[in-house]
Amino acid sequence: MFDQWVKRSLQDVESALEAWVPDEAPAGLGEAMRYAVLGAGKRLRPLLVLAAAEAVDGLGQAAMRAACAVELIHAYSLVHDDMPCMDNDVLRRGKPTLHVQYGEAQAMLAGDAMQALAFEVLTPDEGVDPALQARLCRLLARASGYAGMAGGQAIDLASIGKPLTETELRDMHRRKTGVLLQGSVLMGAACGRVSDKAWNALSDYGAALGLAFQVVDDILDVTQDSSVLGKTAGKDQDCNKPTYVSLLGLEAAGRYADELRLEAHRALAASGLANTAWLGLLADKVVDRQH
Ligand code: IPE
Ligand code: IPE
Ligand code: MG
Ligand code: MG
Ligand code: MG
Repeated sequence: MFDQWVKRSLQDVESALEAWVPDEAPAGLGEAMRYAVLGAGKRLRPLLVLAAAEAVDGLGQAAMRAACAVELIHAYSLVHDDMPCMDNDVLRRGKPTLHVQYGEAQAMLAGDAMQALAFEVLTPDEGVDPALQARLCRLLARASGYAGMAGGQAIDLASIGKPLTETELRDMHRRKTGVLLQGSVLMGAACGRVSDKAWNALSDYGAALGLAFQVVDDILDVTQDSSVLGKTAGKDQDCNKPTYVSLLGLEAAGRYADELRLEAHRALAASGLANTAWLGLLADKVVDRQH
């Protein structure tokens, strides 16, 4: 059942993205944007939005827009993360990175345009209540801006070659990756009616899952092949990045990811919501994934 739900949701997200990412953008920009967004990626963030929306009987159109908006922000963050001035990577989602394919300036602009498009997708002329539009915009802006993803990426680059304490590393990982995953859950929850208790529990679930996601990303960077990852393995050590593996070692990092999985499940149990099965299975997927 879960697999069928995932399959159907991925198809819906793919066709919505296909429709919303324009190829008429000038001077090859549309082609570059579509190259970065379409046809690959696990789409975990959209799945979290849709699963959280289902858990609170959320509105379909708002949830699908939120799902695509968060994927656009995520895909833009990957394009910029790969650029020579950041992680300097040549492989992403099994293809040459955007700057390798289309040049650095186009990669920067495609990222800029994807970020703006995310907020355009969230604010249609009709079909979504304006108050909900504003709330979704605020949640996404918070998660992707200075306090969230962009801030975390700044810490990441400032931490090259520096050993971080566990507290510092946790803070960096929460910001650069965790907060956008947590924001995905909260955007889904905002699409329905939810008590304060359930909102806080979903927020705790998202925080645990979001951190687990980056711990597992650090582990896979060491244990998995580039061909499976679709991105360059061994990159963190090459770039001298502090990670959960460099701090704790592989085994303890794996145990920590498992603890966070349990924390995520406990938060769901405390939510009082009946329909959280997909969210629970997504937490398992995050920790058990092979790429
Ligand atoms: C990779 O994210 C970047 C991080 C935030 C660690 P994903 O592993 O979700 O990448 P895609 O979307 O599946 O390519
Ligand atoms: C990236 O972290 C987080 C982002 C905000 C994109 P990483 O640099 O570890 O992501 P990968 O391993 O390149 O996907
Ligand atoms: Mg990075
Ligand atoms: Mg990177
Ligand atoms: Mg990584």
